[in-house]
Amino acid sequence: MKQFFSRADVADGETLLQQARAYRKQPRLDFGLGTGKTLGLVFFNASLRTRLSTQIAARNLDLEVLVMNMNQDGWTIETREGAVMDGGAAEHLKEAAGVLGRYCDVLGLRSFAGLQDAEADRADALFHQFAAYAGKPMLNLESATRHPLQSLADWLTIRDRAPKDRKIKVLLRWAPHVRALPQAVPNSFAEWMLADEQVELHISQPAGFELHPEFSTGAQLHHSPEAELTDADFIYVKNWSATTPYGQIGSDPAWMLTEKQLQGSPAHIMHCLPVRRNVVLADELLDGPRALHLEQAENRIWAAQAALANLLQP
Ligand code: CP
Repeated sequence: MKQFFSRADVADGETLLQQARAYRKQPRLDFGLGTGKTLGLVFFNASLRTRLSTQIAARNLDLEVLVMNMNQDGWTIETREGAVMDGGAAEHLKEAAGVLGRYCDVLGLRSFAGLQDAEADRADALFHQFAAYAGKPMLNLESATRHPLQSLADWLTIRDRAPKDRKIKVLLRWAPHVRALPQAVPNSFAEWMLADEQVELHISQPAGFELHPEFSTGAQLHHSPEAELTDADFIYVKNWSATTPYGQIGSDPAWMLTEKQLQGSPAHIMHCLPVRRNVVLADELLDGPRALHLEQAENRIWAAQAALANLLQP
């Protein structure tokens, strides 16, 4: 595998899922795969889970890890081709990525959507430019459009508890927030769920917050906070900013999920974290037996390890 950017980079999802499960059972199963090799983790945005789970995964494969927080510790980066660099940016991405490509055998990059220009975000230019200039296998640590490590961990969490004798009913349900958040997590979640023939995916969001059809085609769309809540096996709660007008915050409190809205349904509740309590999800759900958010976070280790192991294959 040359990159782990989207679901399309995975030839056989079931095999990847089995690999993640094998690492969960025996974390050092492939210790030595990374011996003598270096993983560079490059962050343009904050992270807790992605940063640490990927480092644990790397350690289990005997990879050395370098972490670079570009915005705090690096030079300000210019990305435009042909730019006259007489402003604030001290280094071009060509050099920064080119140097990192010489220091590392595999590179991971986190670069969120800017939420100003939908087409620019959809092009995911920073990830692809960085990959081209670095010339090394690339791990997507959350780009403008996708967060595949989160999605693989979410898929593993769902499959662990899924009914075996019928389709798995999954609801991706929008929630309010106080800030404008990217669409990478819901895009990616939908992409991975729709690739699983065992899943029936529903997406519920207010008007104007529909995900791009590239990600949602094949899902059943709803526009009510109550839709499918009592029928779903898994409810994945997540805020994302508007599609029209692009990047606008959505904060309607009617969409905050509470125990009462579930009306006794046995649905499992999922969230990628970080979560704003009592804005996105009520305390009683996060603190109750339905919640899978910590399991998802733990599964991030095994997802990262499976992805890294594939990137390390010659
Ligand atoms: N879910 C997730 O990616 O968490 P971090 O942003 O903390 O890495």
